[in-house]
Amino acid sequence: MAVVQELFQIPSVVTLLVSVLVLLILYLLIDTQIRGKEPPGPRSLPLLGNLLQLDLKRLHLNLFQLSQKYGPVYTIYFGPKKLVVVAGYKIVKEALVNLGEEFGDRDIPPVFKDYAKGHGIVFANGDSWKEMRRFALSTLRDFGMGKRGSEEKIIEEIHYLTEVFENFKGKPFDNTEALMHTTSNIISSIIYGDRFDYDDPHFQEMVTQTKRNVQLMASPGVLIYDMFPWLGWWLKDRKVLMEGFKFTLTQIKQMIRKLRETLNLEERRGFVDSYLIHQQKMKTSREQESGYYHDENLLMTVANLFAAGTDTTANTLRWGLLLMAKYPHIQDRVQEELDRVTGGRQTRIEDRKNLPYTDAVIHEMQRVAQVTPLVRHSTSCDVVLQGYSIKKGTAVALLLSSVLSDESEWESPSTFNPSHFLDDQGRFIKRDAFMPFSAGRRLCIGESLARMEIFLFFTTLLQKFRFTPPPGVSESDLDQTPVFGFTVSPTPHTLCAQPRDRSS
Ligand code: HEM
Repeated sequence: MAVVQELFQIPSVVTLLVSVLVLLILYLLIDTQIRGKEPPGPRSLPLLGNLLQLDLKRLHLNLFQLSQKYGPVYTIYFGPKKLVVVAGYKIVKEALVNLGEEFGDRDIPPVFKDYAKGHGIVFANGDSWKEMRRFALSTLRDFGMGKRGSEEKIIEEIHYLTEVFENFKGKPFDNTEALMHTTSNIISSIIYGDRFDYDDPHFQEMVTQTKRNVQLMASPGVLIYDMFPWLGWWLKDRKVLMEGFKFTLTQIKQMIRKLRETLNLEERRGFVDSYLIHQQKMKTSREQESGYYHDENLLMTVANLFAAGTDTTANTLRWGLLLMAKYPHIQDRVQEELDRVTGGRQTRIEDRKNLPYTDAVIHEMQRVAQVTPLVRHSTSCDVVLQGYSIKKGTAVALLLSSVLSDESEWESPSTFNPSHFLDDQGRFIKRDAFMPFSAGRRLCIGESLARMEIFLFFTTLLQKFRFTPPPGVSESDLDQTPVFGFTVSPTPHTLCAQPRDRSS
């Protein structure tokens, strides 16, 4: 200090300040070198953050475009809220799998905090989440998820679905409702132990409300609420969504009440019975996890399974049928393979290995559809990704869509090309960057069920029907523009399902 004073001949207070400043700069430099620097990103405004640069109606596309400018790990401000975006196969995989613990918490926007209150699986963290996820996975498996049990349920449901399609007698119709009813019946029969009639008004309401909720969950109004929670009461989307959630929960409560009243300890009809029986057992247990088996966790877990299991699977099938109508030469090849291998009998899961082209088409339709393009996590501790330091509790958006269309992984990322999943001998090949169900700690728990449903529904529909555009619309006119919500669906459309005559 004396040297500085001698050299510059300045008073001691100033010297002290300069010294502190130098030390601070040195500390920051060393700290940045040890812990890595923060991810870069566009300059942000106070309070508004990067709001003016965001396209809230097509958020994941917008975030993907920004990744091309700022790199695969960058920071964006959602109003005052910091969000780190991760794009591209290698880095998304590194975060989800290699750093699975560090990136494995859920970022829970305020609207889902208001709704779920930390219960259930999708919008929960910590020990309660862990216990509910573990219980749900093992109970769903007990009820045959991904095994013979659910195969039988799906095959039973197929008869009702094809009946609906047949009733249109080849005339154009929107298949959304039928496919939503079908996929919700699969999850309903696992949760409640029974399916519903498609024309049961109570069931129709339940499915329609779920669809509405899922659409609103990523609406601009709800995203604004995420940025500025204090605006909450003035945002219409938030209000309508909360009313929708309330309606859904009231319906589920009624279903649970009926099951509780008729519970038989010797016979578990579905997930809810298993939970109720486990809950009774836990009442006398002193184990720590016994405290998690309360009614709120049951209600929210059922709501999560129903919503996550219905819309995603139905949307994937809608994309599949649309793509078949749009690319008739691919539909020809699928139908030729199905006829040759199964001879028109009901397909079974074990047929998959003998249907490489069909399997490739199903994978490719999931790749192109990108039904869940973005997943929101948060960091459970300070972590370094690609040399960038990210603090504990930071919200992270992982772009699954950027993995499914990563140019360094896919030969023709923006075309519908089943060859992505075939070798030169026409055999099915797995691709590492095929990640529509995410990966790691938060991997979708319904993956095996969804894959089974998609395979059995898709193959049976293609055995029975030829899918074509409505009269007067050419294949190239079929609109492939996605509609963005919490999940991505095709633009509303109609198709004809012409019954096939396989005798010719
Ligand atoms: C094509 C159909 C489906 C797709 C594309 C899909 C995709 C996904 C994705 C991307 C996630 C988020 C993972 C993450 O945060 O990293 C997820 C989570 C989840 N999915 Fe699925 N899913 C499908 C079907 C299902 C079905 C049928 C069920 C019900 C059995 C289900 C239940 C869940 C649950 C409960 C979670 C939350 C997991 C957690 O937070 O720990 N999904 N799904």
